[in-house]
Amino acid sequence: MTKLILRALAGETLPTPPIWMMRQAGRYLPEYRATRAQAGDFLSLCYNSELAAEVTLQPIRRFGFDAAILFADILLLPQALGADLWFETGEGPRLSTITTIEGVRALKPKDAIHETLGPIYETVRILARELPPETTLIGFAGAPWTVATYMIAGRGTKDQGPAHALKAADRATFAALIDIITEATIDYLSAQVDAGAEVVKLFDSWAGSLTGQDFTDFAIKPAARIISALKARHPGLPVIAFPREAGAGYIGFAKATGADCVAVDNSVSPEWAAEHVQISGPVQGNLAPHHMVSGGQELIDATRRVVDAFKGGPHIFNLGHGITPDANPDNVALMIDTLRRG
Ligand code: CP3
Repeated sequence: MTKLILRALAGETLPTPPIWMMRQAGRYLPEYRATRAQAGDFLSLCYNSELAAEVTLQPIRRFGFDAAILFADILLLPQALGADLWFETGEGPRLSTITTIEGVRALKPKDAIHETLGPIYETVRILARELPPETTLIGFAGAPWTVATYMIAGRGTKDQGPAHALKAADRATFAALIDIITEATIDYLSAQVDAGAEVVKLFDSWAGSLTGQDFTDFAIKPAARIISALKARHPGLPVIAFPREAGAGYIGFAKATGADCVAVDNSVSPEWAAEHVQISGPVQGNLAPHHMVSGGQELIDATRRVVDAFKGGPHIFNLGHGITPDANPDNVALMIDTLRRG
């Protein structure tokens, strides 16, 4: 096994950590903006397999990242389950809302998702053919809680209020929605693996707003169910879990869910994450994305600090969250140079 990302995920401590970056195909790249304009809009880009593969490859060509992440979105699954989905320019996603058991029951059966998601699997097949042999192909989905927050509110929310409200008012309906997303996510990720994804990542962007029993029931348990089902179907498949802003919830998360690697955000220090999370297995992270905007000596120092903190164990270098549209591509090159040349 020569791919560096796969070696790190298998628990190997490498002299230089392999690197990729969340949202590495995105608006900070002029070539991405050009291809998106060619596609028309963001969703048309996601469903155009040739162009989605092209934007996935752009940051690999430009920077030589060790992994490519499939270009798609976590909200395509709700769309495939029957939710309306559109993106308001400059604002973000909008969906039809689900707040009742009737709304949950009106979702399509999970077998129907592949009809909508076929082009995504085709993107994966193109990438499996076209990626350089040393580059690992990562597939992904949103974790059920994060996906549910968008399906319930119909949009992104600061505090996930509507999802918490439904959970408090009608836990059975809320749990039924989580179950449907969980089962559909297993089939969606499994189809990505059949098409050629070598690793999958579960994005639980809003895990940090779950506490106590809710964290167990709606962050840990669905992830554990998804991971065990995937590993039963695809023995040896490495899985990365990202319970963003989980804080103390990061401790023991890999063991509780069966994830091979935990991605940590930058609300925790790399030293803390090394001591409390990396102690039980590979970690990914966690440079603050703002360094990709500001650059300079601070970026160099912060990159070295992350490398240094995690050098005693298996580590994949990444940002603590997605790179932002105002980032400067030169700073990405500087981060990679700092990492690879010391
Ligand atoms: O990382 C990658 O390069 C792979 C592709 C990817 C996208 N979204 C493309 C995208 C991945 C892995 C995602 C995950 C995703 N999508 C998450 C979880 C990770 C996270 O960031 O917390 C979430 C919550 C979403 C939902 C979503 N998609 C939102 C809230 C938005 C709007 C906010 C924004 O950044 O504009 C999107 C749009 C989106 N997804 C863009 C991209 C490149 C920007 C769309 C554009 O080109 O206009």
